[in-house]
Amino acid sequence: MPTRRSVLKTILVGGTAIMTGQALPIFGREASAASKFSNMLKIPPLLHGEKQGMERVYDLRLQRGNARFFKGYLTPTLGVNGNFLGPTVKMRTGEDVRLNVTNTIGESTTLHWHGFHVPAKYDGGPHQVISDRKTWSPHFKVMQMAATYWYHPHMMHKTGEHVWRGLAGFIIVEDNISDKLNLPRDYGVNDIPLVLQDRRFNREGSFSYVSSMHDVMMGMKGDTMLVNGTIAPYFEAKTQKLRLRLLNGSNARFYNIGFDDERLFHQIATDGSFLETPFETNRIQIGPGERAEIIVDVSDNKHVVLRSYPVVSSGMGMGRRMGSDMRGFDCLEIRPTAKLRPSPKIPANLIVLPKLKETEAAITRRFKLEMRMGPGMMFGGSSPFRINGKSMKLSRIDEVVKLGDTEIWEIENNSPMPHPFHIHDIQFLILDRNGRPPSPGERGFKDTVTVNQAETVRIIAKFADYADPEKPYMYHCHILEHEDAGMMGQFIVKA
Ligand code: C2O
Ligand code: CU
Ligand code: CU
Repeated sequence: MPTRRSVLKTILVGGTAIMTGQALPIFGREASAASKFSNMLKIPPLLHGEKQGMERVYDLRLQRGNARFFKGYLTPTLGVNGNFLGPTVKMRTGEDVRLNVTNTIGESTTLHWHGFHVPAKYDGGPHQVISDRKTWSPHFKVMQMAATYWYHPHMMHKTGEHVWRGLAGFIIVEDNISDKLNLPRDYGVNDIPLVLQDRRFNREGSFSYVSSMHDVMMGMKGDTMLVNGTIAPYFEAKTQKLRLRLLNGSNARFYNIGFDDERLFHQIATDGSFLETPFETNRIQIGPGERAEIIVDVSDNKHVVLRSYPVVSSGMGMGRRMGSDMRGFDCLEIRPTAKLRPSPKIPANLIVLPKLKETEAAITRRFKLEMRMGPGMMFGGSSPFRINGKSMKLSRIDEVVKLGDTEIWEIENNSPMPHPFHIHDIQFLILDRNGRPPSPGERGFKDTVTVNQAETVRIIAKFADYADPEKPYMYHCHILEHEDAGMMGQFIVKA
């Protein structure tokens, strides 16, 4: 393992090269010599499932494997139906689905449907443990709106490691509304899933995971960008417009996405729905767990690089040093081919979203996110990562929600860095950030929201359909090392 000192040195030395997009550090010499954007972007295979009676059935096998991220090096990995990451599961709203999840990774894990509204016992959280060599078969009706979701493990204390090693994949949901919208929908051609993940490697090519207290406190970050498991990728565009489904599948890194020539693009969707109208911008920030769909026009035929710019924190002083990311990363080069097929105009109106009125809320719940810094923390048996003063306990239910209620959750960040706060079971709307209405790009349904330091975010949601007297749903920080260290709580929905 690289020492902390050598890591720091590499980051300093690598600083300039990062901006020019070379996959670098640690054993990065070899990668940078291989020229930038030298690998064709991998597109995860589609998994349509198989209709069996009334159900559509999908088989997902969690397995061990090896991947060749760098020439001449094999990296031991985990994957779903493959070596690294998993297939894109395609679902339709209203369909009954069943997922046969078989665990063969040699240790217990779980698989969670991030963003999905399902019964708590099928949620795939830390209570639905799948032992090695066992199959778990949750089934439910797809009740999501058309959007980009994902699946990943949620094993207590192990989520960060299992995701880092490669367990994650997309779920794309379509419905009657998305059917009628004239949007790019040719998977892998003009409708492209992009999972952004940073990784750190050991000298011999294996993944390096949490090697210091710093990695836990700040969340595990890497120095090498992977997009769909591809280092330094390029994509050949064959159409004038591309729809990019961005997923921040990183353990801890925030991205501030834009293009190297500062061209404008349109955001059309958030985590769990379309935006009512496309939002034109040149930047979009996505925290761990969040998704956004954008449409970019490449009809000028120029090569253009999708890049993450340094994150500008809206918080104050301390946060800049602590959580903000002053590094940029090039993610993907888009190379339009000579003759591009025409693309339709982006529809002016995408959807009419249901409204949730503050006056209908039965209760306001408050959540305080805390990191208690100080000497000896974590060694005394109590974690510095807390919500409302408590660290996660599997045996403790923290909140009880009444079935059918609309609630406001007020999330206050008292720590010196931003936290992406995620709630299971529901999709919510953001009411305000420190009293100010959300930006146009945050006005769709969401399941994860970045709460900056010294910020209070209020969200509103309806807890409908599923109640369970004892099986809880989770809420937590989606910086996976924070989640694993206790920044998580449990709620049940009671009939
Ligand atoms: Cu994406 Cu509770 O997690
Ligand atoms: Cu989730
Ligand atoms: Cu956090």
